[in-house]
Amino acid sequence: MDITKIDYFYTMNLVQLDPDIWTASQSLSFFGLEVGNRMTVIRLKSGALVIISPIKLKEDEYLELNKIGEVSHIIVPNLLFHDLYVTHFQKVYPKAKLWGVKGLAEKRPDLNINGLLDKPGALEESLEYLPFEGLKTALPIWKVLEINETVFFHRSSKTLVLTDIAFNFDENNELQTQIVARFLGCYKRLRPSWVEKLVTQNKSAVRQSVSQVLKWDFHRVVPAHGSTIEMGGKAKFKTAFIWFLGNGSDS
Ligand SMILES: [Fe+2]
Repeated sequence: MDITKIDYFYTMNLVQLDPDIWTASQSLSFFGLEVGNRMTVIRLKSGALVIISPIKLKEDEYLELNKIGEVSHIIVPNLLFHDLYVTHFQKVYPKAKLWGVKGLAEKRPDLNINGLLDKPGALEESLEYLPFEGLKTALPIWKVLEINETVFFHRSSKTLVLTDIAFNFDENNELQTQIVARFLGCYKRLRPSWVEKLVTQNKSAVRQSVSQVLKWDFHRVVPAHGSTIEMGGKAKFKTAFIWFLGNGSDS
């Protein structure tokens, strides 16, 4: 069953957020809902580029990417469909190191994974990463899945990069997406949806991961779906997970 499809509704356009971090977005239909898909590009001190959550690029768009550095790391940050376009990147950049999360090798035995993001670490010290434990989701066919997401902190730009552990849909999304996001509790506010809240049992693992993330000094949050938060991202991230942090309220 093909649950995702790509439309070049809008094409890649690198958006520079800070001297060494860019994003590029693309349309993505998920079970018929346009949710968008954002890739993050980070340039390390050596000039190496890290691609988090690759999108599908055209030839001229790879050239655009090549202007800012050398693609050296390609990261599949979780088990939820952000591996869709990794083979395109690998064909163009065969020397780049492919990083994946726990469970990706079983899901995609065709991939030659070079590095495992199963414990906290860093790339060249400037890009820290942390496996975010505990959170689960479910597909609309009610299949519960481990997300196994690794989240990233880019020190120099004070940016937290998320993929599917929280969303931030708003008026920039299609009306149908806005309506569904309202229903799921992630419209105009950074949140996991109610689906993740309902199917996640190990709240204490989520709490521990949240407390680890909050040790990072960030103000910007880049989610893969919804709008980027430029300021106040740390407080918004904490509020995003308040339901898991103890008192159960989430207004
Ligand atoms: Fe996603």
